[in-house]
Amino acid sequence: EANHRESLMIVSGFAAKFFQDSMWETDEGQSIGLSYFKERGFTSETIRKFELGYSPDQWEAFTSAAIKEGYQAQFLEETGLSVKRDNGSMYDRYRGRVMFPIHGFTGRVIAFGGRTLKSDKSVPKYVNSPESEIYHKSSVLYGLYFAKKAIRDEDNCYLVEGYADVLSVHQAGIENVVASSGTSLTVEQIRLIGRFTKNVTILYDGDAAGIKASLRGLDMILEEGLNVKVVSFPDGHDPDSYVRSVGTNAFKTYIDQNKKDFILYKTGILLKEAGNDPIRKAGVIREIVESIAKIPDSIKASVFVKECSHIMQIDERALLSELNKMRLTKA
Ligand code: CTP
Ligand code: MN
Ligand code: MN
Ligand code: MN
Ligand code: MN
Repeated sequence: EANHRESLMIVSGFAAKFFQDSMWETDEGQSIGLSYFKERGFTSETIRKFELGYSPDQWEAFTSAAIKEGYQAQFLEETGLSVKRDNGSMYDRYRGRVMFPIHGFTGRVIAFGGRTLKSDKSVPKYVNSPESEIYHKSSVLYGLYFAKKAIRDEDNCYLVEGYADVLSVHQAGIENVVASSGTSLTVEQIRLIGRFTKNVTILYDGDAAGIKASLRGLDMILEEGLNVKVVSFPDGHDPDSYVRSVGTNAFKTYIDQNKKDFILYKTGILLKEAGNDPIRKAGVIREIVESIAKIPDSIKASVFVKECSHIMQIDERALLSELNKMRLTKA
């Protein structure tokens, strides 16, 4: 069992090295992969640190190299690096993509995300490793290995959606950043963060999907007993595109000035949706109280009740009785 896991990690490490060499040491890799990353604004230092690479645009470049080096087909298939055809032959899962290795807790590569370079909507933008004995998607956070020290030191963790967001924010000097990588945030991921800090700041994309995901994430984080803040970005921007468009310093200032605690964030969004309709406004209050009811610490909850009563201009006692009702129905 331990041996099996080790074999999968060794193959993944070989693959990471193969994709790196394919990028830095071939003409195709340099002119397509490396220049793509450079054009996105990533420095050589960032590219090296995160071990980014490029998969040659061929059917069997990786698979042949791995077999030649003596790696067993079984492990190539289990890691998803190679895919088996019906006739038993194997081909590369990643072809002509820029490669983002995903590192486990101890810094070893356990999986990959590969981004297409085509803008063609018919190909998936990212292809990711399947689940394997070394890669359980729901309990992995992209970037955690590079972020954990900073998360402890800063006593805060920035949570973004994607690979490029982690790289750009990290490169901007904010190293306490991890991504849930497309899978909607899971309880395991939140508990993982909880081992390093009790404070999470969500920096999701400024589109409808990002807002929806942040509202959902916020409730889950509260439920796990962590504190949560949210920064929203202008529509059409994600942290990566925003830091590139305004620069490092303005980005940091933006975060500091737009960080909202969850009540402020949630009321802002819901009130905008509700407009002037008093019935819908009452619904907003109920939804906020629903979030507060998720906070396990009742003293913390009562502080938020005060804040909510202040922001929404409603009687604190009314909110408290609503809160107690919800707690009772939950129990
Ligand atoms: N994702 C994925 N598969 C997709 C689309 C997205 O796995 N087909 C994951 C990736 O981890 C991606 C994250 O979800 O980084 C966020 O998705 P999105 O915002 O669409 O991509 P970006 O990270 O912004 O990608 P880029 O900036 O490279 O265009
Ligand atoms: Mn096993
Ligand atoms: Mn998105
Ligand atoms: Mn992006
Ligand atoms: Mn994005």
